[in-house]
This record gives sequence, C-alpha cells and structure tokens, in this order.
Amino acid sequence: MGNLFNRKEERCFLSGILAGVTTARKNNMSGVIISIINNKGGTGKTTTTCNLAHILGKNDKNVLVIDNDSQCNSSKILLDGIDYTNTMYNLIKDAIQVSDCIHFTKYSNVSCLPNDEMVSALEIFLAKAFPNSLYLYREKIREYAKDNYDIILVDNPPTLGLIVAMSLYMSDFVIVPNDAGSKFSLEGLIKAISFINDIREKANPDLKLLRLLITKVDRRTIASTAILQQIKKTFGEDEVFETTIPINTAFQQAELSDKTLCRFRPNATGAKAYKELSRELLIILDKVWPQKITLQAL
Ligand SMILES: Nc1ncnc2c1ncn2[C@@H]1O[C@H](COP(=O)(O)OP(=O)(O)OP(=O)(O)O)[C@@H](O)[C@H]1O
Ligand SMILES: [Mg+2]
Repeated sequence: MGNLFNRKEERCFLSGILAGVTTARKNNMSGVIISIINNKGGTGKTTTTCNLAHILGKNDKNVLVIDNDSQCNSSKILLDGIDYTNTMYNLIKDAIQVSDCIHFTKYSNVSCLPNDEMVSALEIFLAKAFPNSLYLYREKIREYAKDNYDIILVDNPPTLGLIVAMSLYMSDFVIVPNDAGSKFSLEGLIKAISFINDIREKANPDLKLLRLLITKVDRRTIASTAILQQIKKTFGEDEVFETTIPINTAFQQAELSDKTLCRFRPNATGAKAYKELSRELLIILDKVWPQKITLQAL
C-alpha cells in the first residue's frame, strides 16, 4: 500500500475527490439505480445482480451492472473471456470518465463497470477523504448511468462500510437479499435496514428500500419456512418480494463455468425463479419509479 501513491499523487487524488463534490449536475435522468446489499456474506447478492441483469437485458432493457465488490465476482461472470482495461480502480484513482470504464458483456444489452482487487488498497485514501468521498460515485457515475441505461444494478461487498455507503448515496433503491437457510439472517437484515435509514437521513433523502428478497429457500425444512415467516412478520409482507429464490445446486455449477444460471441451465428451478423475480421487479418499478423507463412487464 505504501508505494500505491507517492505524496504528490495522494494529494491529487484527495483534491480530485474534493473538487468533484462542488460540480453542479443537471437533473434530467431516466434510468433507475438499484443497489444490492447485505453485510452478511453469501446471501445471493452477486447471483441476484447477474441473473436479473441477464434476464432484463434479454428483454430489451438497457442494463448496466456496477461491480462494487473487489472480490470481482460479477465482473468474472459477466466479462469472462473478454479483454478489458479500465475498471473501478481507474475510475476512483485517475481523472478518467466513467464511460471509459464500462464494457460490453457476453449478455445482450448488459454492460459492466468491473471492479479490481486493487480497489481494496484505495479504501484508506477514500477514508482519508471522508465525507467528500461519499459523493464520489454520485458525482462520477450517477448522471452518465441514468442518461444511458434503463436499469443500473450495483453488486456490493458483504460489508456496511464506506464503499457501500458510496453506492447507496448514488442509488434510488435498495434490494436486500437474505439467506433463508441461516438463523443469522434477521440480525444482518436489521443492521442493513438501519444502515439504509442512516444514509437516507444523512446523505440521500430519496433512497428507498425496494424490497427484501428471500434466497436459498428450502420449503422442506422447518427452519427455512420459519425464517421466511419471521422476516415477513418483522418487516411487513409489503416489504418483501412475493417471489422467493429456491435453494438449487445448479447455481454453484453455473458459477463454476462463470455463467449466470439463466444461461447455464435456463430451465432450472432457480433460473425460473429469477425470471419471475424480474417480472415482479418491473411491475413494482412501474408503480414506484415516476420516470417510467420502458417497463412493460416481461
Ligand atoms: N438459491 C441458491 N441456491 C443455492 N446456492 C446458491 C443460491 N444463490 C446463490 N447460491 C450460491 O451461494 C454462493 C453465494 O452466492 P453469491 O455469491 O451470490 O452471494 P453474495 O451475497 O454475492 O456473496 P458475497 O457476500 O461473498 O459477495 C455462491 O456459490 C452461489 O452460487
Ligand atoms: Mg457477491
């Protein structure tokens, strides 16, 4: 980390962030930005992001996936076999346009702003530039993304740190996937909801929870059904997608070949569930998103 920047570069980086926040922006946007978050690992954030992007793109929506996780899992699935140079690392560190960091993927109508493992090394500098760094994605990504895409999905790491706050500050909505197989789901959920409320109060008053999503549901087990019921009881039925994602081993097989399940095995129960979820998502957006994208149901 010591040789990542020299002092002069570090000063430029920090002053770049500071300068960015004073730029006035016009507000003629149309696309909707949805962050997928949960500080608990393995709840299905990446799986949800990539499968939704694939299905929505197939149905003529212009989709951008922003991989905000330096594990780079979405980038690997969507850009497997594609050569690309600029990533989130360049966007954060250099004076570079977001359009130069976005790449076409293997999936029709789906583009991706990939991440890079090196981004984790930048976090210390982002922390030094706090609170200005909170505005970085909003300033560098939001307007371009909204002007050029119908739906922007942001895959986030399993934390509730600054990088996730930056994603929430540029977003219109949040989806929180929860693992119905884990008794710790509810605890994670409560933390995630309170984090969203915090960002709404302090930085982005327009941010809304779109829905909670229940993943890895095994209807044969009492635990899975109990967790599902408990989440609905605690947060209210209206806050939870009606569609749930079943537990399905085909997801891991798809992941091994760096494909979405919807491409790897479109007839798998998990793939069908994500198709149903895309339909429900478009119906909800049609009601709650005033700017009406091309949101006719699938
Ligand atoms: N419904 C499901 N049934 C079975 N396996 C699943 C399901 N959804 C996701 N998986 C598998 O669970 C693992 C974690 O999923 P995923 O990577 O989407 O979670 P994540 O929330 O993005 O994880 P992280 O917090 O590490 O980013 C992966 O191996 C994935 O293939
Ligand atoms: Mg992930």
